[in-house]
Amino acid sequence: MTKILMVCLGNICRSPLAEGILKSKLANTSFLVDSAGTANYHEDNPPDHRSIAVARKYGLDISKLKARQFTVSDFDTFDFIYVMDASNYNNVIKLARHDEDVKKVYRILNEVYPNQNHDVPDPYYGGDAGFENIYTMLNEACDYIAKKLKQ
Ligand code: 4NP
Repeated sequence: MTKILMVCLGNICRSPLAEGILKSKLANTSFLVDSAGTANYHEDNPPDHRSIAVARKYGLDISKLKARQFTVSDFDTFDFIYVMDASNYNNVIKLARHDEDVKKVYRILNEVYPNQNHDVPDPYYGGDAGFENIYTMLNEACDYIAKKLKQ
């Protein structure tokens, strides 16, 4: 089974949305998709209501997900670790024990725009439009990821 982890800072806005989107695109196939945050600010909390709302608008229910912090053991569990931005990348790479760990970590928008290192912007302090924007970005990135993984 191929295991994919989505990572952001709080695990309440971007990565649970990415988890819900990718799960929907890999339905009925043998993949495991999870998400985590580099920080523990929101441990055990459900996703932000604005992420739940934008997911629901597109037919996805992410309301039952619970935030957790990324741990070193995630490098052992997962095959692909997708981070949302440069800060998440640096925080995850700091925990890598060796090159095999480093090689599992990818900037999610590089799936769409290879080598360009674009960020999925943190929408936490913005308005609802930011959540629509990250949905669009993540939906496109997850299309590329699902297509690649199913090959
Ligand atoms: P996320 O967004 O990393 O996409 O879940 C954030 C959520 C919470 C905070 C920052 C970003 N915060 O500072 O509490």
